[in-house]
Amino acid sequence: MEHAPVLLSEALDGLHLQTGGCYVDCTFGRGGHSRAILKALGPSGRVIGFDRDPDAVTVGQALSQEDPRFSILHLPFSQFRAGLASLGIDAVDGVLMDLGVSSPQLDTPARGFSFQSDGPLDMRMDPTRDQSAADWLGVADEEEIAQVLWVFGEERYARRIARAICTARLQAPLQTTQALVEVVRTAQPRIDPGKHPATRTFQAIRMHINRELGELEDALGAIVEQLAPGGRLVVISFHSLEDRLVKRFFRDASRPPAGDPRMPLPDSVATPKLRLVSKAIKAGPAELTSNPRARSAVLRVAARREAA
Ligand SMILES: C[S@@+](CC[C@H](N)C(=O)[O-])C[C@H]1O[C@@H](n2cnc3c(N)ncnc32)[C@H](O)[C@@H]1O
Repeated sequence: MEHAPVLLSEALDGLHLQTGGCYVDCTFGRGGHSRAILKALGPSGRVIGFDRDPDAVTVGQALSQEDPRFSILHLPFSQFRAGLASLGIDAVDGVLMDLGVSSPQLDTPARGFSFQSDGPLDMRMDPTRDQSAADWLGVADEEEIAQVLWVFGEERYARRIARAICTARLQAPLQTTQALVEVVRTAQPRIDPGKHPATRTFQAIRMHINRELGELEDALGAIVEQLAPGGRLVVISFHSLEDRLVKRFFRDASRPPAGDPRMPLPDSVATPKLRLVSKAIKAGPAELTSNPRARSAVLRVAARREAA
């Protein structure tokens, strides 16, 4: 399935585009947001895309052939600073993050993200690096698995499922998505109607093996440092832990640090780096009807303050 960009007009408004500006799309995907940004920019505008998924990068390379204002980087966005440095860029006018997985990732059984179809138990956004879900489930101890399912999936049967995984792998390694689905299904004493029994487990394992919260945490500080004065940061999250991290980061970076009033801090330290632009924005009824992925999306916007 094509990827329908979520909260598109809200994201464009949040970026407050300047026709000659330089913008970064940290999560290029299939380029829905990037293309809309390029459309709004003039001939001297520029968009840099990041994605760690090689399939997304292939689409980005094709776009860069069509439109010289666009460049794609095959990097995780935690390498924001290094990525921009490789292009000789040190300040940008706006940054967009549209977190999570894309529809093509979910819909391609060979990527192993989906509990709906059968495929190798992979779930890596970048299958050329790090451990697959099958590799991790083959070696992680029961306590670690239970913790991941509980924290990232809010799975109330986390312990039972972790125990069932460790028992099942004594017989044979869990290599496919349906092998994991079967273990998860049989480990649960009760199955919620209307929700696939493996939803939470798959989400949690995906977030863990792709280090999704860690990536976000590493990137936010670096992004703020490279925003030009007035530059915008727009983040679309799909998970409550992600949104909480963004909300806290925005709040802390938009408040002056608590200091000792007898020892005033220099302006460069005392002036907050960000200004909050909007409260959480969610999809309206029309988008919710046409794009079910938008259901859990929350968009937040902040701007880099002008120097004091
Ligand atoms: C929700 S999709 C983005 C869709 C995109 N906005 C569009 O309209 O097509 C998220 C994309 O971000 C990528 N991604 C997720 N985390 C990443 C990270 N830490 N670094 C780089 N890319 C990441 C995924 O591989 C995926 O392609």
